[in-house]
Amino acid sequence: MVEDTGFRFLVTGAQGCIGAWVIYHLVKAGYRPVAYDLDPTPRRLRLIADAEDMERVQFIAGDITDADHLARVISAHGITHIIHLAALQVPMCRADPLLGARVNVLGTLNVFEAARRFSDQVQRVVYASSAAVYGPPEAYDVDPVPESAPLLPATHYGVFKLCNEGNARVYWQDHGLTSIGLRPWTVYGVGRDQGLTSDPTRAIVAALLGRPFQIGFGGRTDMQYVEDVARIFIACAAAPYEGAAVFNLRGEVVSVEDIIEAIDAAVPGARRLITHSGQQIPIAPSLDDHGLRELLSEVPHTPLREGVACTAERFRYLLQEGCVEPAQLGLPAEP
Ligand SMILES: NC(=O)c1ccc[n+]([C@@H]2O[C@H](COP(=O)([O-])OP(=O)(O)OC[C@H]3O[C@@H](n4cnc5c(N)ncnc54)[C@H](O)[C@@H]3O)[C@@H](O)[C@H]2O)c1
Repeated sequence: MVEDTGFRFLVTGAQGCIGAWVIYHLVKAGYRPVAYDLDPTPRRLRLIADAEDMERVQFIAGDITDADHLARVISAHGITHIIHLAALQVPMCRADPLLGARVNVLGTLNVFEAARRFSDQVQRVVYASSAAVYGPPEAYDVDPVPESAPLLPATHYGVFKLCNEGNARVYWQDHGLTSIGLRPWTVYGVGRDQGLTSDPTRAIVAALLGRPFQIGFGGRTDMQYVEDVARIFIACAAAPYEGAAVFNLRGEVVSVEDIIEAIDAAVPGARRLITHSGQQIPIAPSLDDHGLRELLSEVPHTPLREGVACTAERFRYLLQEGCVEPAQLGLPAEP
């Protein structure tokens, strides 16, 4: 446990993959976070936390598109720091861009508005942007691509995230609201079960079950272990900073073949079961993270093989103990 900083955290999208790990680490650090999500069920948190941990969390079912409810929660719970993760992912924004904009853009504006309205109370917003604000690899001739490079998102999702970064800048300029935006790439680990880049995690589960699995992309990506990502969000909430910064995250930039090798090392035989589609995701895979390194004295970093091994070990236990069904882990119930 850490000393009581007096911080009171609200985590939106807290029932999601990154959200569950943020809540878990806040609890382990001695906080009593407020977990805000449309989904009232802590099914991902249950995969990593015990009953005692869960008791320290205040769960609130709510929709970030409901500005009044969000503001009431922030006021009533004396929230000082917001970690804003609630969003719809790429496929959902593609299928329904209007809903995508309502949740990802207007929902984020609701978070900033509430933080502005209670500025005597809320000190900072740390929010999830995404590597999807960058264009495809062929749009850049440097490696790694710096934060100052042109942002050329190829999806509605990426455009919405870029819009949020712009709105964060304007809230600082007009209202002095401090925020930090973070741009994860492929986050993997226990709890990752939806969105295209959840495939490496789902491939680990498939390998444990002895089932064939095709990763729906190829080429290169940046693999970021979910515990590192969660700890970076928390560290950015506490780091001395004023302004509206946006930082890239960098884990291990690898080919999908390297990912399959790492899974095979943790689950022998996996390489015979896992294939990939060969298609590069249209986002530059290698992004520079020196901005984040300047802000934080230490940036959590788990090597790919270690992160994959930890993930496989936890899933192996959960499956053996019957704590989860394949469907909960993003795989069909029957092969
Ligand atoms: N996982 C990644 O690889 C990755 C990469 C880049 C950016 N991000 C961003 O990080 C954040 C968290 O990602 P994740 O993988 O944990 O996502 P996730 O899909 O697992 O979780 C998102 C959560 O948001 C909640 N939510 C959706 N709409 C809501 C609404 N209207 N009101 C309240 N809650 C709502 C969902 O119920 C879900 O629990 C997102 O903003 C995502 O865009 C993730």
